[in-house]
Amino acid sequence: MKSVGKLLYVVMILSMVFSMAACAPAATPAPAAEAPKAEAPAAAAPAKAEKTYKDLVVGFAQIGAESGWRDGETNSIKDTATKLGVNLKFSDAQQKQENQIKAVRSFIAQKVDVIGIPPVVTTGFETVFKEAKDAGIPVIFVDRKADVPEDYYAAFIGSDFVLEGKNAAIELAKLMGEKGSIIELEGTVGAGPAIDRKKGFDDEMAANHKDITILESQSGDFNLAKGKEVAQALIKKYGDKINGIYAHNDEMALGAIQAVEEAGKKPGTDIKIVSIDGEKAAFQAMVDGKLNVTVECSPLLGPQFFEAALTLANGGTVDKWIKSNEGIFRQDTAAADLPSRVY
Ligand code: AHR
Repeated sequence: MKSVGKLLYVVMILSMVFSMAACAPAATPAPAAEAPKAEAPAAAAPAKAEKTYKDLVVGFAQIGAESGWRDGETNSIKDTATKLGVNLKFSDAQQKQENQIKAVRSFIAQKVDVIGIPPVVTTGFETVFKEAKDAGIPVIFVDRKADVPEDYYAAFIGSDFVLEGKNAAIELAKLMGEKGSIIELEGTVGAGPAIDRKKGFDDEMAANHKDITILESQSGDFNLAKGKEVAQALIKKYGDKINGIYAHNDEMALGAIQAVEEAGKKPGTDIKIVSIDGEKAAFQAMVDGKLNVTVECSPLLGPQFFEAALTLANGGTVDKWIKSNEGIFRQDTAAADLPSRVY
């Protein structure tokens, strides 16, 4: 009996212990290592509003006013800016490279969106275009280019000057019956169109018109007065040997026409004349029978220029060379074409 009592006692104690344990609150599990809280999504940067033409600030560093062609380009740039509502800062360098460089520096200081420029000559612009690049301002070469690294400019809008020279050679050779002698009036020394128009013309003559001789080639600086002066001197020097004149632009051809007339000859008949540009005055000279052909080079680049400028200002890209559409005009259609000529 004594051991039965002992056993009962043990069972009682154990059941008390278990019932106490059952009533104890459940142990709280150790907190799991805290999972890294997901970053609250960063508030999306407000989309930068696209610029429109009305927000665009553009600097244009024009060369000057050496020709009706140049005036045509100036008008195209100014008129298009007005029509689109672009804030245009226009500067006229009066044919001086140092003025063009100053204008570009001033546009950089004013933080314009885009700079447009027809560099007067191909060399000497490297430093200033690097400054524009470093300032993050895209430069568009309009009608003329400079010899600078490709990444110093965003685009070139303009003509194929080499092709213009080649076409002028083909036209002049045909007019001369593939034989005879000519003089060549070059544009401004060191200017892109002067270099390329000479190359296109001289290479074509040498390769495919071997019975035509280029007596002499001199710069008439792309203007009428100098073109006339050079033509006078060369007519005096070569006299009747001259059957043809190639002028790198219409203005110099108009000067040469005067020189030929003053020498007692008939321009367009005694001496065939071919030039480049397509100015109104050249069409009139063709109607009058004094100029034979003008190979068009369009200065009406305003619309293409501002379209490219807006794309670039919004961070887009444009073709590196945006070509202009051009034709070749001869005497037979000049009267019909003249009324629609803009420059
Ligand atoms: O750069 C284009 C040339 O410049 C034109 O042919 C000429 O007339 C102008 O001066």
